[in-house]
Amino acid sequence: MRLGSIINGQERNEPNRETLEVKNPYNQEIVAELALATKTDLNEAVENAFETFHSTMKTMPAYQRSDILRKAADLLEEKQEDFTDTIVQEAGKPIKYSRDEINRSVQVLRFASELAKNITGEVLPMDAAIGGENRMGLVKRIPLGVVGAITPFNFPLNLSLHKIAPAIAAGNTIVFKPAEKTPVSGYKLVKLFQEAGLPDGALNLLMGTGAVGAPLVTHEKVHKVSFTGSLAVGKKIRETAGFKKVTLELGSNSPNIIFEDGDIETAVKRLVVGAFSFSGQVCIHAQRIFVQKNVYQPFLEQFIKETRALKIGDPMVEATDIGPMITEKEAERAKLWIEDAVKNGAKIEVGGEQNGTILSPTIMTDVDRNMKIIAEEVFAPIVSVIPFDTEEEVIGYANDSIYGLQAGVFTQDIDRAIRVADQLEIGGVWINDISTYRQDNIPYGGVKQSGIGREGIKYAIEEMTELKFIGIKLK
Ligand code: SIN
Repeated sequence: MRLGSIINGQERNEPNRETLEVKNPYNQEIVAELALATKTDLNEAVENAFETFHSTMKTMPAYQRSDILRKAADLLEEKQEDFTDTIVQEAGKPIKYSRDEINRSVQVLRFASELAKNITGEVLPMDAAIGGENRMGLVKRIPLGVVGAITPFNFPLNLSLHKIAPAIAAGNTIVFKPAEKTPVSGYKLVKLFQEAGLPDGALNLLMGTGAVGAPLVTHEKVHKVSFTGSLAVGKKIRETAGFKKVTLELGSNSPNIIFEDGDIETAVKRLVVGAFSFSGQVCIHAQRIFVQKNVYQPFLEQFIKETRALKIGDPMVEATDIGPMITEKEAERAKLWIEDAVKNGAKIEVGGEQNGTILSPTIMTDVDRNMKIIAEEVFAPIVSVIPFDTEEEVIGYANDSIYGLQAGVFTQDIDRAIRVADQLEIGGVWINDISTYRQDNIPYGGVKQSGIGREGIKYAIEEMTELKFIGIKLK
């Protein structure tokens, strides 16, 4: 399968193009070959999206945008098996988690379809100001224009839809650059939107690496950049985007706190998922688990036991819990971080073995704040378990981070739960669930260096529209 960019409904896949192979991270089989976009393609994709915005999307009635999104949801539901297999193959994500991603994606489209018909403004009380008598003030929400959507490998379909679906709901057009490691689901998604009736040019696709992402960020006819990915790239986007709006969904080293009155059994069961699903390659992966001292030992023993029971292997097999990481290089990098921590006094309780792209689920103890596995985003199946004494102490530990995306707090004491949630410097806090849980309609985004702005369709629509005031002076 050789896949090219799609601009104004036409695929750019001529034989003389530079190409890139997409490999299955589990068995290294070639899943697809990409015909890479050129600088000319990029300019044409943006110009065409700009024209389509002005000629078509800007004035398309809300009910039509809503219909397209609903049809896209129905089509995705019909094609769920194919999309599931695609994600397993291109990302190496275990099939049960890939299936979950498709179900979530269908929901995202349905939420967007409903919200497209509910983008409201307000009527201002103009006479609240002296001189405002006999005036009427309307505030409308209008689309921005062209949205540049740059998306990561870890949720190749759903995180793309978290940008594309609200952009369409709001009446924008999109130039979409999926991760070069997992572009096949993105390609199929663009085809699916064509089938759902989205006009050509409303969603243009660019196949390529950061070399095509960077000029998309700086192009003067792109009005907003929505990016999910690393802190390093996010910083560059922030520096180069100029006057554009940006939404950046970046990294985290998410804390999960278990108090002595927390339900330990539930916490263990959920944290095994939170720490190791998709080999920890999730921005809200449970990276730091803080456990109150008198339940630390029983928690750790139970957590190790459940971790040992995880099934490692072929992501196509229904029972597999842990598949490959995205590349061998990434697995080696994570292994080096473990070795570095061990050199500095940390202990491996379980795991730590790397074989090609597979890194076994790893629990570390005796860690400290300077180790990379604590201070940086680990993005691998590595979790650290750390004891604490008091509430005040653990809030300090959890907040001792450049990041703040999501957290989990396990306690039966509602006062404590709210007190702790209020004091955590973090975008979202789950009480009695893990940091890794995300529902697609919640505001999702971070504080500090975890990012700027919020996704979660309603919130993304707010960020993909701007306010326009229209005032009337009556006689
Ligand atoms: C992410 O990795 O930021 C997305 C997590 C999710 O949507 O579950």
